[in-house]
Amino acid sequence: MVARRVSSIEISGIRKMFDAAPPNTVNLGLGEPDFEPPPVVLEALARATREGMNHYGPSAGLLPLRDAIAGRYAVKEPTTTRENVIVTCGGSEALMVVALSLYDPGDEVLVPNPGFVLYPAHARLLGAVPIPYSLRASRKYLPDLDELERLVTDRTRVLIVNSPSNPTGGVFPRSVVDQLVAFADRHDLTIVSDEVYEQIVYDGEATSFWGRTDRAVIVNSFSKTLAMTGWRVGFLLAPRRLAPDFNKIHYHIMACPATPIQAAVLAGLKAGDGTIEAMVREFRARRELVVRLLKQIPGLDVVRPAGAFYVFPSFEWPRPALGVATELLSRGVITTPGDAFGSLGASHLRLSFAASRPNLRKGIGIIRTYAEEIRAG
Ligand SMILES: Cc1ncc(COP(=O)(O)O)c(C=O)c1O
Repeated sequence: MVARRVSSIEISGIRKMFDAAPPNTVNLGLGEPDFEPPPVVLEALARATREGMNHYGPSAGLLPLRDAIAGRYAVKEPTTTRENVIVTCGGSEALMVVALSLYDPGDEVLVPNPGFVLYPAHARLLGAVPIPYSLRASRKYLPDLDELERLVTDRTRVLIVNSPSNPTGGVFPRSVVDQLVAFADRHDLTIVSDEVYEQIVYDGEATSFWGRTDRAVIVNSFSKTLAMTGWRVGFLLAPRRLAPDFNKIHYHIMACPATPIQAAVLAGLKAGDGTIEAMVREFRARRELVVRLLKQIPGLDVVRPAGAFYVFPSFEWPRPALGVATELLSRGVITTPGDAFGSLGASHLRLSFAASRPNLRKGIGIIRTYAEEIRAG
């Protein structure tokens, strides 16, 4: 018999749906860049394995990589050093380390609705209670501080935030970050800020919670920025009072992150952000294309995403998101039903524009034909 906690979460039905996709289906369901890591990074990985970097390393990560990460954040908070940094196996492991370290059974965790699927799942696995807070299109997918005040109780321990957001593409302006910090101060909450799309923004910059409060833990990843989702490497940035405990948990899960991959990531950081900037330029152009095409579709409403590579249109058709996504799949385009990300994702689809422009045109064309058929009755 497995432990009871296993039944507290479900395997997403979405993957099964993808497996049933007909050949030549256009994939707008992707949660990863359709780019490859920069050549300098690929070469550094090959060199590291040839030169014998094939063994366990320090649990919190290779010192030069921790120093390089800390250096980037020292611009926001000058006291940042390697002691604040733990290299993890992706943002996913970082989120689990945070959950294992911070949640006791019965604790309440404020999670975005809609939001990334791991936040409520990790809480449930640990006997904590995810309390969803709303991100609505009518508020440009920004949190409602009055609602947060109503949701907080004496059991609330953690506020999870994700800007730029998966699935909405919303980015918190600095004023919202400051309001959330003040809210966390008032209620003595730890902020867990998932910033994995931090560098994928289209209008200005994303505001990190690092350096704006000493109660924030940052989850970040190289998956999206260096187009290496399959490499499984990310990091945690934590105040010094928490970092040793996080590292203890991390050690008991992973021992250490993959050694040669860290060497390759370090080469990527040293090479600068040119590749990321080129990728973001292309995503920006695709965002314009996608928003323009979606706005022409009857029955769809779309908020222009400010970051990440997702758009989260709502539809007015009286049918469930899974039903719409399944019908679209049978016509040749993969989308993600919005309610996979929480109840407020009902009547939404998540489309990824990490797909080529011809595929975006083709996929959105299929959605348009579908919408026109519904309108015609
Ligand atoms: C918001 C968010 N956080 C964290 C992750 C996890 O990323 P990884 O484990 O690949 O670093 C993802 C991946 O899709 C994500 O969208």
